[in-house]
Amino acid sequence: MNKSYSIVIAGGGSTFTPGIVLMLLDNLDDFPISRLKLYDNDEERQNKIAGACEVLIKERAPYIEFLATTDPKEAFSEVDFVMAHIRVGKYAMRELDEKIPLKYGVVGQETCGPGGIAYGMRSIGGVLELIDFMETYSPDAWMLNYSNPAAIVAEATRRLRPTSKVLNICDMPIGIEDRMAQILGLSSRKEMIVRYYGLNHFGWWTSICDKAGNDLMPAIKEHVGKFGYIPKNEQEQAEASWNDTFKKAREVYQLDPDTLPNTYLQYYFYPDDMVKKSNPDFTRANEVMEGREKFIFGECEKIVRAQSSADSQIKIDDHASYIVDLARALAYNTGERMLLIVENNGTIENFDPTAMVEVPCIVGKNGPEPITVGRIPQFQKGLMEQQVSVEKLVVEAWIEKSYQKLWQALTLSQTVPNARTAKLILDDLVEANKDYWPPLAEKKLQPSL
Ligand code: NAD
Ligand code: G6P
Ligand code: MN
Repeated sequence: MNKSYSIVIAGGGSTFTPGIVLMLLDNLDDFPISRLKLYDNDEERQNKIAGACEVLIKERAPYIEFLATTDPKEAFSEVDFVMAHIRVGKYAMRELDEKIPLKYGVVGQETCGPGGIAYGMRSIGGVLELIDFMETYSPDAWMLNYSNPAAIVAEATRRLRPTSKVLNICDMPIGIEDRMAQILGLSSRKEMIVRYYGLNHFGWWTSICDKAGNDLMPAIKEHVGKFGYIPKNEQEQAEASWNDTFKKAREVYQLDPDTLPNTYLQYYFYPDDMVKKSNPDFTRANEVMEGREKFIFGECEKIVRAQSSADSQIKIDDHASYIVDLARALAYNTGERMLLIVENNGTIENFDPTAMVEVPCIVGKNGPEPITVGRIPQFQKGLMEQQVSVEKLVVEAWIEKSYQKLWQALTLSQTVPNARTAKLILDDLVEANKDYWPPLAEKKLQPSL
């Protein structure tokens, strides 16, 4: 009989929690759980989700011990895995991250450009706190972190918690690979063996083969060149704004027809198009608050009222099964090949060894072993050097409480046209984030003699 595991989901009040709980409950044969806890620092928000999760667990696996708490000791004691998806500042701050840059005609996005930088400055402290709770109360546990902006959070963990057992992971490549599999008519993305490299939300596929080693890239490229990542007979239509993103991949792909791009590159290659299609008064944060957040909280309320999920529309987040794959790889030493955000350390030969890069890794009991990428072309190298410098400067700015470094980070972002605009945006962001960022000291210019 396999051991069964104890898990805490940090950010229990997240809109993704019910789908992930259902997904965990659907995978109990492969990954048995004896205890599931939710942790959040917003009790009221978490309780609404927890009430529904309690019903779901009672219906499907009543032997699982369930608990929701805001007490770190209770949450982080005796756990094997911490699954972390917190959003420091919640959607109210995401809305400002998106709307402030747009005021100046600059991309307003959750993880890219000035919005992602602002979010990073909030997330670093929150994620480090979770790591410290884990190491205090369950020193042998692993943290699977998908709190955003993952690139900046990963760099912060590398700098500030270098020996901690934290793995940073993103679902965007998985979402795109699901679409590639549909384009090819395959039953699952797991039929494909991929090579990929880049930074988080900033990467490229260089090879996709089937299990027999046959090259699948030409067929995918032909499709992406015409339709982007929109499969002909799409199984489930994405929301309109996501549909635009998958369509835009057609233009993003044209920059380098030797590879297939991550969709997030659209914000760096076509920032003006992104600004033009944005509504500065109603951004993605508003869409999510009106859509996913209302829906999930409404459904949870119904489940609690009926004490039954029979009429619930909440679906298993099947696509989040990569979280189980990762936990299983660590627990059972499966050697599964997965894309993770890890320290480069020579994996990409001609790139900063200290950069946090997203590459395929073999994952086992002792963590990830990255698969060598080799040398990368000048185009990608140039873009990645610029972007990784943005991410490193943000972390340096947070550590040193440096206004100057944060201004440099914004100026260096491919999404920002010049240093003056960078400063205007930064000054607004400083004001908006004063409850979340460390106070920044502005470097005084040398007084003239
Ligand atoms: P959400 O706002 O619905 O949920 C986040 C929760 O985190 C909230 O309940 C909030 O109270 C809680 N929280 C905030 N700060 C906290 C702290 N310091 N300690 C404990 N709890 C805290 O957000 P969401 O849209 O469900 O997204 C959750 C997170 O997952 C975000 O960071 C999002 O960017 C990320 N995400 C990542 C991926 C990926 O690919 N890596 C995919 C989807 C979502
Ligand atoms: C993808 C990315 C995540 C990001 C999310 C935003 O899943 O990989 O990192 O948080 O999209 O989705 P949303 O629906 O909140 O705009
Ligand atoms: Mn992501």
